[in-house]
Amino acid sequence: MVKLMISTEFDTLLSAAFRVALGFVSAAFLAQAQNPPSFAKDVLPILQRECQGCHRPGEAGPFSMLTYESTRPWAAAMKEAVKTRKMPPWFADARYGKFTNGRVLSDAEIKTISDWADAKAPEGDPKDSPPPVEWTEGWQIGPPDKIYQLPIPFDVPASGVVDYQHIIVQSGFTRDMWVQAAEVRPTDRAVVHHIIAFIREPKSNWFRGEPAGQFFIAPQAKTKEQPDTSALPSDFLVGYAPGQPAEILAPGQAKLIKAGSDIVFQVHYTPNGHARRDQTRLGIVFAKEAPKQRVLTLSATNGTFLIPPGDPNYRVDASFEVMTQVSLSGLHPHMHGRGKDFLYKLTYPSGQTETILSVPHYNWHWQNWYTLEKPIVLPKGAKIECTAHFDNSPNNPDNADPKRAVPWGEQSWDEMMVGFFNLVFPADMPVEKILPPKNIAGIASR
Ligand code: HEC
Repeated sequence: MVKLMISTEFDTLLSAAFRVALGFVSAAFLAQAQNPPSFAKDVLPILQRECQGCHRPGEAGPFSMLTYESTRPWAAAMKEAVKTRKMPPWFADARYGKFTNGRVLSDAEIKTISDWADAKAPEGDPKDSPPPVEWTEGWQIGPPDKIYQLPIPFDVPASGVVDYQHIIVQSGFTRDMWVQAAEVRPTDRAVVHHIIAFIREPKSNWFRGEPAGQFFIAPQAKTKEQPDTSALPSDFLVGYAPGQPAEILAPGQAKLIKAGSDIVFQVHYTPNGHARRDQTRLGIVFAKEAPKQRVLTLSATNGTFLIPPGDPNYRVDASFEVMTQVSLSGLHPHMHGRGKDFLYKLTYPSGQTETILSVPHYNWHWQNWYTLEKPIVLPKGAKIECTAHFDNSPNNPDNADPKRAVPWGEQSWDEMMVGFFNLVFPADMPVEKILPPKNIAGIASR
């Protein structure tokens, strides 16, 4: 009786079209309440694509998402992590640039994970599960031609802060070698924040005087002198960070390690409550034939700043002008805990400008490369311009000491402002042709 009355009233009040719409919404709502997304059918495919790369045994994520049993207790935390876009970790503003290694969930995927968590994380019918992903364990680059293991292990204490460690390993190369793929593999990922393997050419001054084969801490920045950023990286061979793929260059491309070069490892260990031991390895696959193109990591760097105490938004700029035509294939902003945001812009000789990467909330816990979907041709005279802001205020939880004026330095309590980028150019072209004259002295000494 009551029911009938309501429906009569409804009939008089609502247009036919609205009724159809209402019926549709409530049907969807009912289906949703009765049939929330299930792990097997709806959630697992997303986890396979976007999460398991890091969330499986032996990788950086703190729990495994391979099975329902291991995932289920984390449902509420997963909802929170995806809604706040904390996970999957990805920091580029979607308005600029397209990157091959981007990890972004669609709104629909976020809703699926949230609805599933809200419905108390049902498993569903395991028969609906997609087949498990076959993850390649071991070297992602295939069997290396050459493996360098750190000559001594590093004992990571259970707690405290471990300064960035450096260790120099001689390449042993007596002739120039072309590298097609390279990968850094920690032996204990749980305590490795990031590692960078740099190539130090024989003429470089960088860390000269430090003994090979031993861990050391970068010398204190000399604030009175101009910091020597020309000594920076030499070539960046390959880095390791959670979820960062190995460096596998396209056929015909290679990185060059000159005869007599050293490999300088920069290692950042982060204690996790248990005493651990790591003895990282670097694997290299050589190019099987002479490459057509060389890939080289260079940077726009500013080492002359002094961030005032307490400043919440201190701006630092750096730029790099190419002296001949090359292609740009990847970007990697680098700052420490006071780093706040980072932007890459191109200015063409015509005056036209283009933003190619914006990282509005830089997070130094994630050392990401941004690999461009399509390399960008930089004509002679094009500039790569980088702008960063630093937060030296007490509101920044990663600020070690807001009362300090902070200079350039390799240690985490100092700051760096480096816009790394990968250039691609003919393998036989001398690097000097690309560099602005003021940089050549620097490079020659690297
Ligand atoms: C690039 C590697 C990577 C990917 C991809 C990734 N995670 Fe994580 N995740 C981590 C690491 C490392 C941590 C621990 C450090 C942290 O919380 O920042 C973590 C932590 C978490 C936590 C715990 C957060 C907390 O507050 O304790 C949740 C939940 C989580 N991830 C969910 C996800 C989900 C869901 C996805 C996929 C949509 C995902 N993650 C993709 C690496 C990753």
